[in-house]
Amino acid sequence: MNPYRENKLTKKKEWLALKNHFNSLKKYHLKDFFNQDSQRVQNFSLETKNIYFDYSKNIITNKTINFLIKLAQASNLEAEIEKMFEGKKINQTEKRAVLHTALRNRGNQPIFVDKVDVRPAIDKNLLKMKSIAEKIRSKKWLGFSSKSIKNIVHLGIGGSHLGPQMVTQALKKFSSKNINIYFVSNVDGTQLTEVLNKLKQEETLFIIASKTFTTQETMTNAKTAQKWLLEKTNSLSKIKNHFLAITSNEKLALQFRIKKNNILPLWDWVGGRYSLASSIGLPIMISVGYEKFINLLEGLFEIDSHFRNKKFHENIPILMALLGIWYNNFFKAETYAILPYSYELNLFPSYLQQVDMESNGKEVDKNGDLVDYETGPIIWGASGTDSQHSFFQLLHQGTKLIPVDFIAFVNPNNNLLDHQEKLVANFLAQSEALAFGDDSQKIPFKKFRGNKPSNSIFFSHLTPHTLGNLIALYEHKIFVQGIIWNIYSFDQWGVELGKNIAKKILKDLKNDKKSCYTYFNNSTKKLIDFYKSKYQESKNEPNKKTYS
Ligand code: F6P
Repeated sequence: MNPYRENKLTKKKEWLALKNHFNSLKKYHLKDFFNQDSQRVQNFSLETKNIYFDYSKNIITNKTINFLIKLAQASNLEAEIEKMFEGKKINQTEKRAVLHTALRNRGNQPIFVDKVDVRPAIDKNLLKMKSIAEKIRSKKWLGFSSKSIKNIVHLGIGGSHLGPQMVTQALKKFSSKNINIYFVSNVDGTQLTEVLNKLKQEETLFIIASKTFTTQETMTNAKTAQKWLLEKTNSLSKIKNHFLAITSNEKLALQFRIKKNNILPLWDWVGGRYSLASSIGLPIMISVGYEKFINLLEGLFEIDSHFRNKKFHENIPILMALLGIWYNNFFKAETYAILPYSYELNLFPSYLQQVDMESNGKEVDKNGDLVDYETGPIIWGASGTDSQHSFFQLLHQGTKLIPVDFIAFVNPNNNLLDHQEKLVANFLAQSEALAFGDDSQKIPFKKFRGNKPSNSIFFSHLTPHTLGNLIALYEHKIFVQGIIWNIYSFDQWGVELGKNIAKKILKDLKNDKKSCYTYFNNSTKKLIDFYKSKYQESKNEPNKKTYS
């Protein structure tokens, strides 16, 4: 039986219109569009209080945008946006509402999930975060030897790690110099070892951030941290002030001997990768303080309101999403590059990889049918100008079409103005070069064909507020694409199989008798044997610690 049942999206008249339109544009170069229309930049740019969004260097005409907007309308986008903001259970495979927007809603309307207003719990939790953060920042949080805590080690992975780490790094300029914040995510013991080697037990507090409180990487790191503290005190009750937990599984946190008062909640209507405005943002608040954390929420909320209220033509995240669909589905671009011209945003591309690829990396639609069109693109990137000296060659002269988002800030968070002018000159030069190329060269190797699309997203300053803006733009872009592709963007079943097999393999690795061994194929069996034979040698070396 053909697994591709008749699929609605590619049969839609709006989709077919876009396909025809795409064919009709093939003969044009971006240069032609600019030559033919002196109003192009005015038509294809938007300016809000903080953002200048220029999408004129895309391979589009007015017709393209109109066709794309018709496709969005045919997908009931407006109604779907409302369903999310109203707390409807749009994450149907997990039977959950999707309400990260409630966490940063600065209005005062109630927001209901299962007829319960979630706002009081959110507000109460923000105050709890505030009191913890202030106690740590003012050095009143004491460890077992009555010394102040000055090191925070955040243990989490995926959505419980990437957001807080990216934001804490991006807002370093606003951070307290009294507190050192470290992030440990990997189960590779080298990461935790390197961090612990720098620290003293009596001055160190661990935040165990795990929605489930079962994630192998985080719980392994947490247990090792506990043992490390016990090396100094030998008493579980003495190290109670050295742990905070952020979880929706209070029971497991209590079993881990975390004090009830040191447990912060996570609600099931907040997905991990959308959770940085929740308790998961605690390290951000410890780093920059309560006021700045609220500024971040305000920036997120500003774009939530823009997204919810602006017409599609004036709606930046919707336009970003539609342009992404244009390249992904009609030009068949497989990847999308995110290039912040900001050293502070150097973790932004890897943060976005999870948000986008875990959300829209889906091959079945909401009916459970295999799709016959491309869904989520491969997201990648790095900060400019480093990336100019590594992979830009391929952007300019490679055979692949790679749409790009250039992101920059007019004013730097440093005093080196000469550096800033050079940084911005490069930001501006690259989109120009990609779009218009250079055909004046006679030698083929030196020719630039141009016609490579990009968006330029320009902010005045990098602040908690504008960072909130930027994050929300991408969150909503991803949402819109998921709606049009008719996929569930808020689950992540695809990560389960590997985790389960790893658990089975672990049993074998720990057990000299080959317990589940027969379950695996020959390649994996041979790899297990190779590991076991070589590992025995190093296991018996002196000074190897094992805490299991
Ligand atoms: O493996 C993926 C994932 O489930 C992410 O979606 C999530 O953000 C991460 O693991 C961590 O999960 P937890 O917060 O439950 O430890």
